[in-house]
Amino acid sequence: MSERTLVLVKPDGVSRGLVGEVIARIERKGLTLAALELRTVERAVAEEHYAEHKDKPFFGELLEFITSGPVVAIAVEGVRAISAFRQLAGGTDPVEKATPGTIRGDYGLETQFNLVHGSDSAESAERELKLWFPEL
Ligand code: PPS
Repeated sequence: MSERTLVLVKPDGVSRGLVGEVIARIERKGLTLAALELRTVERAVAEEHYAEHKDKPFFGELLEFITSGPVVAIAVEGVRAISAFRQLAGGTDPVEKATPGTIRGDYGLETQFNLVHGSDSAESAERELKLWFPEL
């Protein structure tokens, strides 16, 4: 069954020139792009996006980082798109959790700078897509 997920190429991925690489992997997997935008994230949007982590010790750093430069927001569509992109991204910690062959496993070193975000459930995807692409 086709579904949609929100993918963000975070500021580190954009500044390192990895947008094309991320998109290529999404497309090679067989997923499609329903919407795409380069944008600088306002703090209020970042707070809403990461609301479930507001009590985590790294919440402040997370907000600083995601608002530190442009991100590329992508609505990705396809069969099992949510878990398919999580698989492409690899685990949160690019060294301890992400395996080689994944985006984070191939290009990341630090958890804070882990290049991409992908919605973690159908509920998150719906909430995040409404926030980032209300017109979709
Ligand atoms: S948790 O605790 O399991 O719910 O956290 P997790 O899902 O692994 O991570 C939630 C988002 O926070 C980012 N993260 C961090 N940022 C900065 N510093 C540290 N230590 C840190 N740990 C986790 C992580 O990349 C997740 O962001 P997204 O954008 O969802 O990938």
